[in-house]
Amino acid sequence: MTGPAEVPVVAIDGPGGSGKGTIARAVARALGWHMLDSGALYRLVGLAATRQGVALDDGGTLAGVAHGLDVVFDPLGGEEGRTLLAGVDVTAELRNETAGRAASLVAAVPAVRAALVGRQRAFRRLPGLVADGRDMGSVIFPDARLKVFLTASVEERALRRYKQLKQKGIDVNLPALSKDMAERDRRDAERAVAPLRPSPDARILDSTGLGIAAVVVQVLDWADEAYPGLARREGPEA
Ligand code: C5P
Repeated sequence: MTGPAEVPVVAIDGPGGSGKGTIARAVARALGWHMLDSGALYRLVGLAATRQGVALDDGGTLAGVAHGLDVVFDPLGGEEGRTLLAGVDVTAELRNETAGRAASLVAAVPAVRAALVGRQRAFRRLPGLVADGRDMGSVIFPDARLKVFLTASVEERALRRYKQLKQKGIDVNLPALSKDMAERDRRDAERAVAPLRPSPDARILDSTGLGIAAVVVQVLDWADEAYPGLARREGPEA
């Protein structure tokens, strides 16, 4: 089961810092569709496990943490929404690099991935879903009629992430960030389950040197092609 097949899905996958989150959010807004930030689920598992004192490689216990995640995504809280873990606002904490690293560790555990499948597919609701992650097109929504693999050079991705974190007042250092990003890319690409790689039917979009608006317009054009008449829009808000 991949969720109600009549509900259209645009899957946007790619490495960290490729701009997936920003693009997916803008595309969802332009289409008036729902949005799944699947990375947030892995970040939440990492955070919940850390809080509960569960080791990040303890597969069996982590799967239980993933199954039992008490999370609320409140779309009305702030510009990008608010995330509550067991009733506590963890929106800012989720975005920091510690949470990113923890996410990439727990994401390599097959039982954790399995535990999150149903939760992710439940986001597939009318009028449509834009799903952002690493395996949206390959594993979670293999029948999506539009799969985009968004990428950019590692230098540009590190710089984007650097600016994003700085803007949020999070103190970071660019060389350390680049190194960490390359390491995380490697772990995501080499893991045995759902490794990060484009599905054969994905459209590759290299956003190096492209602005957000240009990327959003391209994805919206493809969405129109994939779902004629369904992906109607007034125009991108990017
Ligand atoms: O996209 P984001 O940076 O929030 O993802 C954090 C980590 O979660 C990634 O480095 C990756 O290891 C993992 N992830 C995943 N599958 C997804 C989304 C995220 O393995 N669909």
